[in-house]
Amino acid sequence: MSHHLVEVKDLKHTYPGGTEALRGVSFRITHGEAVGIVGANGAGKSTLLLHLNGCLAPAGGSVRIGDYPLTKETLAGVRRTVGMVFQDPDDQLFMPTVYEDVAFGPLNLGLPPGEIEARVMRALETVGAAHLRDRPPYRLSGGEKRAVAIAAVLAMLPDILVLDEPSSNLDLKSRRQLIGLLKGFKHTRIIATHDLDMILDVCERTIVLHEGRVAADGPTTEIFNDEELLRRSHLEKPLRMQACPVCGK
Ligand SMILES: Nc1ncnc2c1ncn2[C@@H]1O[C@H](COP(=O)(O)OP(=O)(O)O)[C@@H](O)[C@H]1O
Ligand SMILES: [Mg+2]
Repeated sequence: MSHHLVEVKDLKHTYPGGTEALRGVSFRITHGEAVGIVGANGAGKSTLLLHLNGCLAPAGGSVRIGDYPLTKETLAGVRRTVGMVFQDPDDQLFMPTVYEDVAFGPLNLGLPPGEIEARVMRALETVGAAHLRDRPPYRLSGGEKRAVAIAAVLAMLPDILVLDEPSSNLDLKSRRQLIGLLKGFKHTRIIATHDLDMILDVCERTIVLHEGRVAADGPTTEIFNDEELLRRSHLEKPLRMQACPVCGK
């Protein structure tokens, strides 16, 4: 299904002040793929993701989502297709209650009340947050906020799920739930993270960014076994692939 395609060609972005955050990034992600975006702090991960739903406009190159190049005219449609979970949940949650936050998007689509209620409750149950429905988002823990931010995106039934550092601030149980959820999501997933162990669990493909360029793009296990590439990109092997510090095995 071509409408789940994400194609980035020679994407460049320079912030006011002159930082060249993206220096010509290209890749193509097809329907149903789960792709990890990894790289040291400042490599350009968040900048890249913010281009995928038009939060940032490219200085050069192009983004194509499904059948449409991302332009001012296609922006609204692209935002319905690409569900973006931002790095900081506080950027996403602003309503008086969790329920209203998750209902906000479906309400704006003009859906009938019954459909909105069903979508909100299904999304909250998926992230294990149904019990939080009447709570104010600003009183939640970091992990609870993250779960609600993900629910707000799931309630829009996006074809493509884009998440920026989704496992940061999560306790072990919430992280495990998140991994289960991401594995179960049938459409395209693009996940920027420092959590290489999570990538190992969820993504068959990984793109390594280094100083605004693609340093590697390939099967996750191959990338994580390439010690020279990891060293050059200031990354460390997932814990699960490292030798035991006690017995050396
Ligand atoms: N709003 C901004 N204004 C200026 N520079 C920025 C801004 N956001 C990020 N940068 C810079 O762009 C580069 C890439 O940042 P970012 O995309 O956030 O990297 P990552 O998500 O991989 O840590 C860094 O050098 C960062 O300092
Ligand atoms: Mg970032």
